[in-house]
Amino acid sequence: EIIDATNCIVSPSFVDIHVHFRDPGQTYKEDLYTGSLSAVAGGYTTVVCMPNTIPALDEPSLVRYIVEKGEEIGLCRVLPAAAITKGREGKKLTEMSLLKEAGAVYFTDDGAPVMDAHVMRKAMEFAGSIGSFVADHCEDLNLSQDGVAHEGEISAALGLPPLPPEAEDTMVARDCVLSLHTGMPVHICHVSTKVAVEVITWAKAMGAPVTAEVTPHHLYLTDEEWLDFDCKAKVSPPLREHEDIEALRWALASGIIDFVATDHAPHAHQEKMLEHQHCPPGMIGLQFSLPIILELVRKDYFDIFRAIEVLSTKPAERIGIDPPQIKEGVKAELTVFDPTESWEVTEEVIKSKSKNTPLIGRKLIGKVKYTFYNGKIVFKD
Ligand code: DOR
Ligand code: ZN
Ligand code: ZN
Repeated sequence: EIIDATNCIVSPSFVDIHVHFRDPGQTYKEDLYTGSLSAVAGGYTTVVCMPNTIPALDEPSLVRYIVEKGEEIGLCRVLPAAAITKGREGKKLTEMSLLKEAGAVYFTDDGAPVMDAHVMRKAMEFAGSIGSFVADHCEDLNLSQDGVAHEGEISAALGLPPLPPEAEDTMVARDCVLSLHTGMPVHICHVSTKVAVEVITWAKAMGAPVTAEVTPHHLYLTDEEWLDFDCKAKVSPPLREHEDIEALRWALASGIIDFVATDHAPHAHQEKMLEHQHCPPGMIGLQFSLPIILELVRKDYFDIFRAIEVLSTKPAERIGIDPPQIKEGVKAELTVFDPTESWEVTEEVIKSKSKNTPLIGRKLIGKVKYTFYNGKIVFKD
């Protein structure tokens, strides 16, 4: 077959170390097949699935289920992250060595109530000692309470229960300090505030083995989305303000934030229509990261080489897999995209089972034309 790549960029394919594919237990939102379809449509050939499934990925058999089912589907590399604590309850550590042997690439209780500092410290030490790492959804429930939207003008104007940024900032600081003192790695999930960026800057300067990710939605959208999209704008951590976005963009440019991860979080339409308090947080992301990152290239925050690094080689390095390569003798694992083609986000173009995103109806620039995995075309526009 002849591939028409006129005006296109041929890139190592993308790696997303933070997705929620809801399998097992909530496959009405997404499953490993539809998740894989969304991934390759977004130019991704490796994804790491979060363990907040039902049941939680806290047993080797469940971790193996993800690996095996992903291979059977065969569209991309589907890897599991295992739970840090049994049932993600924040108390008893899982058997990390066995989970790692079963295929877990790291450990996280993402989305769960916050873990006490001593549990996190033990987890950091154990995961680090077996050559793995923990990743934390940094949010202190004592401060966030029953908050729904970022604390600011918008939450005040709409009367939404506020989520103060310090709920994130204090927890990022705690984890950075634990990492500094133990010398063990921690990965900060979905950084969303300007103060968290400063804390991570400090931790890295002190030599703590801290890495950090940022989502496309936190780089691109503010809490003003609540005005038009109501709970479709509800995500955890919440969409913040212009100053935060600006800080996140420069931090991604400078390397303080290491790479992009989508936190692809599908939820059913009826769930996103619930009252503010009951609506689950999250938005889908796999098909939007390329155009959002290219927008930052056009706005001169960084160049196309950094864009490819943050979407592909840096996250690959973090989970210890070979970066996708483009060379003779290696089975093609690459993404061909047109950086200038504009397209509209519609429910029809979304491959995920769920359509929960405030981006519907918007025009984005930059389109994936082909994705190759294992030497074969797994997505064609
Ligand atoms: O917005 C979010 N959605 N944040 C989380 O931490 C969990 C995730 C989910 O599972 O839906
Ligand atoms: Zn999270
Ligand atoms: Zn998540």
